[in-house]
Amino acid sequence: MKLSTLTRHWPFRLQLRFLLPLVVVLVAAANLAVPLMDQVTLRWFSRDLNSRGMLVANALSDSVSDALMAGHTDKLQPLFERALQDERLFAIGLCSPRGELLLHTEAFPTLSCDAAAALARQAEPRLNLAGGPVHVGVHNVMGTPPPPPTPEVPDGFVGPPAPVPAAAPVAAAPQQPVLAGRLVLLHDMSFIERRSEDTRNYLVGLIAGLGLVIAVITVVVAQLSWRGWVNGARALMRGEVLFSPLPSGPSSAPAGEALAPELIPLANELRNRMRDLEDEFRRSQGLHTEWNAERLRALLNTHISGDQVIVVSNREPYIHERTADGVIVKRPASGLVTAVEPVMRACSGTWVAHGSGSADRDVVDAHDRLPVPPGQDDYWLRRIWLTAEEEQGYYYGFANEGMWPLCHVAHVRPVFRESDWEAYKAVNQRFADAVVAEARSEDPLVLVQDYHFALLPAMVREKLPQATILTFWHIPWPNPESFGICPWRKEILDGMLGSTILGFHTRYHCKNFIETVDRYLEARIEHEHSTIAFREKETLVESYPISIEWPQEEAMRNWPSVEACRQRVTERLGLPQDLCLAVGVDRFDYTKGILERLNAVERLLEKWPQWIGRFVFVQVAAPTRSALEEYRSFQERIERVTARINERFSRPGYQPVHLLAAHHEPDAVNELFRAADMCVVTSLHDGMNLVSKEFVAARDDLQGVLILSRFAGAARELAEALIVNPYHVEETADALHRAASMPAAEQRERMASLRSTVRESNVFRWAGRMLLDAGRWRLRARIEARVRRHQAP
Ligand code: G6P
Repeated sequence: MKLSTLTRHWPFRLQLRFLLPLVVVLVAAANLAVPLMDQVTLRWFSRDLNSRGMLVANALSDSVSDALMAGHTDKLQPLFERALQDERLFAIGLCSPRGELLLHTEAFPTLSCDAAAALARQAEPRLNLAGGPVHVGVHNVMGTPPPPPTPEVPDGFVGPPAPVPAAAPVAAAPQQPVLAGRLVLLHDMSFIERRSEDTRNYLVGLIAGLGLVIAVITVVVAQLSWRGWVNGARALMRGEVLFSPLPSGPSSAPAGEALAPELIPLANELRNRMRDLEDEFRRSQGLHTEWNAERLRALLNTHISGDQVIVVSNREPYIHERTADGVIVKRPASGLVTAVEPVMRACSGTWVAHGSGSADRDVVDAHDRLPVPPGQDDYWLRRIWLTAEEEQGYYYGFANEGMWPLCHVAHVRPVFRESDWEAYKAVNQRFADAVVAEARSEDPLVLVQDYHFALLPAMVREKLPQATILTFWHIPWPNPESFGICPWRKEILDGMLGSTILGFHTRYHCKNFIETVDRYLEARIEHEHSTIAFREKETLVESYPISIEWPQEEAMRNWPSVEACRQRVTERLGLPQDLCLAVGVDRFDYTKGILERLNAVERLLEKWPQWIGRFVFVQVAAPTRSALEEYRSFQERIERVTARINERFSRPGYQPVHLLAAHHEPDAVNELFRAADMCVVTSLHDGMNLVSKEFVAARDDLQGVLILSRFAGAARELAEALIVNPYHVEETADALHRAASMPAAEQRERMASLRSTVRESNVFRWAGRMLLDAGRWRLRARIEARVRRHQAP
């Protein structure tokens, strides 16, 4: 590519911005390098002249020494003149040892011997003359003085020979060399100047040439990169590569146009900004579209024409218990109650449930009713009393020893007894009668809850054919083969299909149900509309993921701070301050994976011993269905395993597992959630699991990690949790370690996203979607009825 082409493509000002600094750097480099180079060459040549001086002095020394010793210095003049034929030797002088200038060549300047010696001792022995600088070198010339003359014997002298002393030397001792004189050699330095100038010219030329080459390369490279950046930035702006996955490793290639590596930080920044904007947008939209109690109430008034709502469940939302301190009100540990109670507060109406508390009868009116919540009186609770036999057969027997293990594939065998079935039928009928008795119109909206009342929808339908019956199955629905175990499978399905709408948590459970009906009943299934026509009546089978009520702003403001919660929990349990706190909150149920969770904690401490003393797991386990052997033995087993782990890893002042086998009220659970670093939900099978959502709602500080079983319905919505297979101990232990080591920023990212999901998909949305479907269904039924009336002869 030609430079002219480059300059055309690349703005001139931009080129200047690249080139100017380069020129400045090069000029500065030249200014620094040239004097440095001068100094170095001068030093080299000085050293060179010293050696040359020594050579010349050595060559002259014998003749000079002889002449000096003989006192015939005049003979040296022609020798010096000859030596001067070397063009670099400028002048020669000869000094006596006492410093008198004995002889010198013509060009020798006015310079005393002492001054020459002083100059020669300097680091740069240089003398500036009119014709240019000279290098001054002074070299000693040594000589041996001639031997003293031997005394002469006069001719004809005869005498006795002189006595020779025994020790007298035979010959005279050799003479020591002495300083005979000093040669002063002056070398012409002008050639050094010439050479340094040449070197300087070369250097400047070299720097300029290099600079030019660098400038051209810089312009070309910058031009190419600039084009790449511009193209990449344009692609970013068009969103082409912004939402395609960025390369995370060497093997992964981004979709679409490749993004220059320098632009990846920009792309990340843009992506984050877009997400922020999206969140802001969603938040602003949420004000209008968010599901809340008001919106649900409004929906009832518009779509359901303000009709009466009747809820039926086994577990009641408020239990009155007699204690030593008087009657207390308890909130049960039940996902069903957690979800349905806020809906009832919004819709009013009547909730029909089993009165199971020891003081329940003491607080109801003549019709077995009382207004709840205590002090607020938003709706009516109608209590049904069961005999011990009824409770044993219907609740413990058929519901919890039969249907519960049947629907949760958790490796506990279902037990089906004829007597339990009879009790189940009878109790369903009693509740159905209560519903009919509570109805103030022929078409109330009846919300039937859970596996305790599979027969009730058809029973209510028989008495109130116009009723809209919404049945929600809070637990999983198994595949047809598993369900086939139940001896009364047809009756169960028949009873459920009395519903107008049949709701499950997930599409997967809907599919299982439809396949089960297909296998065991003669029914017409419309897969496209997800409806089942049976006994000339249609039922819509739909998924409605249940949720919790998102805490009100005011309630959140009144929560104790996370620090205060942590302080209280650690003090209450006697835990060390600096610890990683994991919590689990469940009923003491074999489906919750409590054993698998403990095994994972044990493996964590084995695999990463650095957590011993620093990792504490608190398991709240509310006793449940303790009349059943399966539950009792499960609780004992958990207690044994807890004791074993504690025995193995406890240290003075440290106990890794704290098992709190007691019911905890919602406030205490919230405090624990806020105090924790992570919440562990490892259900072996779970319809939804609302504990996971409650933990998320509790963390308005956006901290804390959720570990969630993939076998809980919630895993389909809460993808930012650490999803685990609880049967895989190693995987769960690794997740505990990862959660315990997770940086605060990652926790914040995950928690913010989880919270936005739970906040949006709250329980009012769950109820609202069902009621909207019910409203449409009722409208259709009314239109059909009118059409039938008109068509009738
Ligand atoms: C599950 C069921 C609920 C039940 C709850 C508590 O969540 O789906 O129907 O209320 O467990 O069990 P319990 O037997 O104590 O009511």
